[in-house]
Amino acid sequence: PSAALVLGIESSCDETGVAVVRATDDASELLSDAVASSVDEHARFGGIIPEIASRAHLEAMVPTLRRALDDAGVTLADVDAVAVTAGPGLVGPLTVGASAAKALAVALDRPLYGVNHVIGHVVVDELVHGLFPDRVMALVVSGGHSSLLLVDDAVDGVTELGHTLDDAAGEAFDKVGRLLGLPYPGGPHVDRLAREGDPTAIRFPRGLTAPKDQARHADDFSFSGLKTAVARWVEAREDAGEPVPVADVAASFAASVADVLTAKTIAACRRHGVDTLVVGGGFSANSQLRELAAQRCAEAGITLRIPPVRYCTDNGAMIAAVGAAAVRRGVPASPLDLAVDSSMPL
Ligand code: KG4
Ligand code: ZN
Repeated sequence: PSAALVLGIESSCDETGVAVVRATDDASELLSDAVASSVDEHARFGGIIPEIASRAHLEAMVPTLRRALDDAGVTLADVDAVAVTAGPGLVGPLTVGASAAKALAVALDRPLYGVNHVIGHVVVDELVHGLFPDRVMALVVSGGHSSLLLVDDAVDGVTELGHTLDDAAGEAFDKVGRLLGLPYPGGPHVDRLAREGDPTAIRFPRGLTAPKDQARHADDFSFSGLKTAVARWVEAREDAGEPVPVADVAASFAASVADVLTAKTIAACRRHGVDTLVVGGGFSANSQLRELAAQRCAEAGITLRIPPVRYCTDNGAMIAAVGAAAVRRGVPASPLDLAVDSSMPL
């Protein structure tokens, strides 16, 4: 069988990622995955500063590329196609990656594929658990997204069934983390704290699950009401001069997010007759979500595919995986005047 080496470049946020994937007719194999992060440079600002991220990508791009090639034991001349994140993400950071990818595609005279970052968070699982069956449901949860996707084809068959109407799941965790005085980004800290608390201690609201919301927004999510409910609960305690049981607050909050995400996603699987669920994005590292998804998918007879945590965060592998799918399908390459799109639709 013919094999093609696909280089994947990711730079939509604060991770510079370059990876090499070997694409054959029946598999996508990860040969290397190099990542450089500027997250520490943003920590003191409590959020990502696009200008700083862009400069960090500019400095890290070539060293990260070198590392990816070395780790894979290949040279640039071996590369058959270049895939790059075209959006969504921060314009400056995206432009650094797209410029590098275009320069490589021109110099090597190889096809360029502009890739949607959100789809990358789903298709990366093909590197771990094998190529997808014909139809899968995908839940993409990160600091910027909470979307439910029906995936018939990784390249041109992705339908967005729903998304968050306000905060993303990771964003809600980060905000609750700040509220509880935890370091940035708060998500992993809230997760850890939640494991020490009682998830049934406080009954926080379940966003968009009431029958009237379910009728209009069956596949959409909302987490800002939950976040506000947590803030009010904590304030009330403080105003009363009582100690805040932070572990119970974290656990009860995390339970609401995991409950809503899994209940709605499994209902969508049933409605569409889909028996495979892929969960991707940085928030799929969340242990409350992983646990409840495993339990409920087993009960519902749904095969659950969640890649290991290191594949869930931003990296070049997810972009190379989509590039590999494009090469396998023989889809036309992107034009070399490809633009980046900060709010790229699916
Ligand atoms: O996909 P990602 O690395 O970057 C974006 O594209 O947003 O996602 C990072 C998000 C952050 O909000 C982070 O706090 C959250 O995912 N996160 C977690 C956990 N690990 C990362 N939230 C809760 N529990 C975790 N274990
Ligand atoms: Zn991401």
